[in-house]
Amino acid sequence: EAGEHASYMRKEMLEQPEAARRVVSGRLDKRFATAHLGGLNLDARETREIQRVKVLGCGSAYYVGQMGALLIEELARIPADAEAASEFRYRDPVIEPDTLYVAVSQSGETIDTLLAVQEVRRKGGRCIGLVNVVGSAIARECDGGLYLHAGPEVAVASTKALTTMFLGFALLALQLGRVRDLSIADGRRLIAGLEALPEQVEAVLAQEDALAETARELAKAESLFFVGRVRGFPVAREGAQKFKEISYRHAEAYQTSELKHGPLALISPAVPTVAIVPDDELTDRNVGALHEIAARGGPLVVVTHEGLDLGGLPATRIDVPRNEKELDPILLTIPLQVLAYHAALHLGHDIDKPRNLAKSVTVE
Ligand code: BG6
Repeated sequence: EAGEHASYMRKEMLEQPEAARRVVSGRLDKRFATAHLGGLNLDARETREIQRVKVLGCGSAYYVGQMGALLIEELARIPADAEAASEFRYRDPVIEPDTLYVAVSQSGETIDTLLAVQEVRRKGGRCIGLVNVVGSAIARECDGGLYLHAGPEVAVASTKALTTMFLGFALLALQLGRVRDLSIADGRRLIAGLEALPEQVEAVLAQEDALAETARELAKAESLFFVGRVRGFPVAREGAQKFKEISYRHAEAYQTSELKHGPLALISPAVPTVAIVPDDELTDRNVGALHEIAARGGPLVVVTHEGLDLGGLPATRIDVPRNEKELDPILLTIPLQVLAYHAALHLGHDIDKPRNLAKSVTVE
């Protein structure tokens, strides 16, 4: 039961700090500044031999997979990317024995992800799973993996499961990194970041009233852009996905750098942009591109870090706490969940059961 909450989605959003604690619990080793994921079934030699990582998932699991691939590339220095599991098997993919395939799924029953895993394994590849539901089809089909311990998720729009997927990737990247070249200092830095995270998630969720006001403004638009770069781009994709899933507004995600190559033509006072602008090596370029939107009268909502100077950009500002830069994506994602939720609530939609969508799609 959603109980005192208006919906499961809100209940599950608010459970995120607790879910974030659970997924890392008992899996960090401070002495060696690493993570211990016993279920991966990968020994040190096998870990050092990985040449590439390919993440497979659908919907939100695909977007968080993109965040995860970046984490692995940054921390373990293994080339990594994510692909929509629903497309994967249709191009007769080359399966490489030294690639680690990673399937991501809340339900563990999504048919497209399951068939992608089967494609990998049929061709002799190794696939591990980041799965929430214990004993589910995908979990059983994989060579190993880790359970997310998010608890049951009922709302179609994934919130706490997604947060645990991201942290699952952080643990995986830390373990792979420490077996390879990640320094003990970087391992410690990441562990401290992971430990600080649940309270920071709580702090973002505590901004709900201000976010609700911004959401009501955004809900007036028929069409919106969500933009970000590098770590911010999968965040923008996930934000747009949530917005369209439950508010039924057209929400399109774009790389901020690509705006000038097309979508700028659509910017007007009627088309707001939600921009992800963390304090990182791309801040100035991001702000520069957003000035192009402001100059065309496009309303801006900027999700950024506390205290970051946005150089006079006219924007509604949403601040999130600072953590280690590799962990930024999840803190930048939480406000976008709250925005989508309150836009949908304001528009009077069924939050937990959006039209035309199922929690998990188990038939082709
Ligand atoms: C979709 C749901 O059909 O499946 C999405 O509407 C979800 O919300 C996606 O992210 C993947 O589901 P799962 O269970 O494999 O994570």
